[in-house]
Amino acid sequence: MVLTLAERSSLIAPSATLAMASEARRLKAEGVDVLDFALGEPDFKTPENIQEAAIRAMRAGHTHYTPPAGIPELKQALADHYTRKMGLPTQAAQVLISNGAKHSIHNALMAVCGPGDEVIIPAPYWVSYADLVKLTGAVPVVLTTTEESGFKLTPEQFLAAVTPRTKLLMINSPSNPTGVVYDRSELEALADAVLTTNVGVLSDEIYEQLTYGDARPTVFATLRPGLAERTITISGVSKTYAMTGWRIGWAIAPTAIAKFMGDLQSQETSNPCSVSQYAALEAVVGPQDSVRLMHEQFVKRREYVLGRIETLPGVTCVPPGGAFYAFMNVSAHFGRTLGGREIKNSTDFCLSALASAHVALVMGSAFGAEGYARLSFATDLKTLERGFDALENFLKG
Ligand SMILES: Cc1ncc(COP(=O)(O)O)c(C=O)c1O
Repeated sequence: MVLTLAERSSLIAPSATLAMASEARRLKAEGVDVLDFALGEPDFKTPENIQEAAIRAMRAGHTHYTPPAGIPELKQALADHYTRKMGLPTQAAQVLISNGAKHSIHNALMAVCGPGDEVIIPAPYWVSYADLVKLTGAVPVVLTTTEESGFKLTPEQFLAAVTPRTKLLMINSPSNPTGVVYDRSELEALADAVLTTNVGVLSDEIYEQLTYGDARPTVFATLRPGLAERTITISGVSKTYAMTGWRIGWAIAPTAIAKFMGDLQSQETSNPCSVSQYAALEAVVGPQDSVRLMHEQFVKRREYVLGRIETLPGVTCVPPGGAFYAFMNVSAHFGRTLGGREIKNSTDFCLSALASAHVALVMGSAFGAEGYARLSFATDLKTLERGFDALENFLKG
């Protein structure tokens, strides 16, 4: 055959969350009433003021190419937002607007990593991190964190893994899939450890506005002097504003790196969608009432979910301090037969739950943590109730 796949094709697998979601969609198309807790996207509609801003942008003729790294208004709005509200002095030239935070992460990794480099990723990790690192030719170095330590990386663990080839540490607080939020003091300790090395940081803060109770988000780059010069901060509008389909995320990076990411984007995709950028601008500078209303719903759903997990036999969960996931330890069920299938691992568990209880979850193995299943509670309470009833029945065997 002439047209064969490049070696690179063996480096990545399709995103497991999207794969579970597509299996759930397939069943739905067959008429099955699937209770879908697989995908990490808010079920809310994008707030009206944001939709209106997009319509206005279209009517005003903002339907053409934009500068590759984003429209100046949005870059400036984000620079102001980080400078004034987040305590991170930021120039517009340090801001890159991309087709979603995922794209910003890809660009950031392409900017700083290459063959021979190592990137430290604490597990459980978001599904795409390791594959995006591999695409650059660098090697993901996965450090396992456990339920007992609250799924948090310690400075000692980090320092023990650093080699002369370590280029980057990736952190994600609040975390997908565990919902774990590091305390400020824990991040400060990590920051101090990082500052004793030549390692940079990619801090994925996409769930920054979704925290619960005493948990507080922290902009990692602000924690110590000198940290901003070695940190790339990632965020976006997908989760906070229920805008997953609009595909707008961003990176805040040292100027030279931000410039390269923009150049890269100019060759790869030209620019993020023009209309979506104007919608994101309204999201960032417009009224924030809808964010508060959505947050209130997430608080209720989280409480409901934790209450139901408590009474699920053989299932435990570290209460999430942020994001909208419950990372359930289901390993007590391994060795049993559920839904007619022998459960040997988290994939068996999730496939059987989907096939027999019509409940879509994502297997922990996709996040580098066998023994778990992730439930997204970005779904209305009625569906959650039906889902937990179905799970309860499923676990009876
Ligand atoms: C931890 C984390 N980072 C980044 C993203 C990507 O978000 P976006 O929709 O902006 O690409 C997600 C989405 O699931 C996520 O969970």
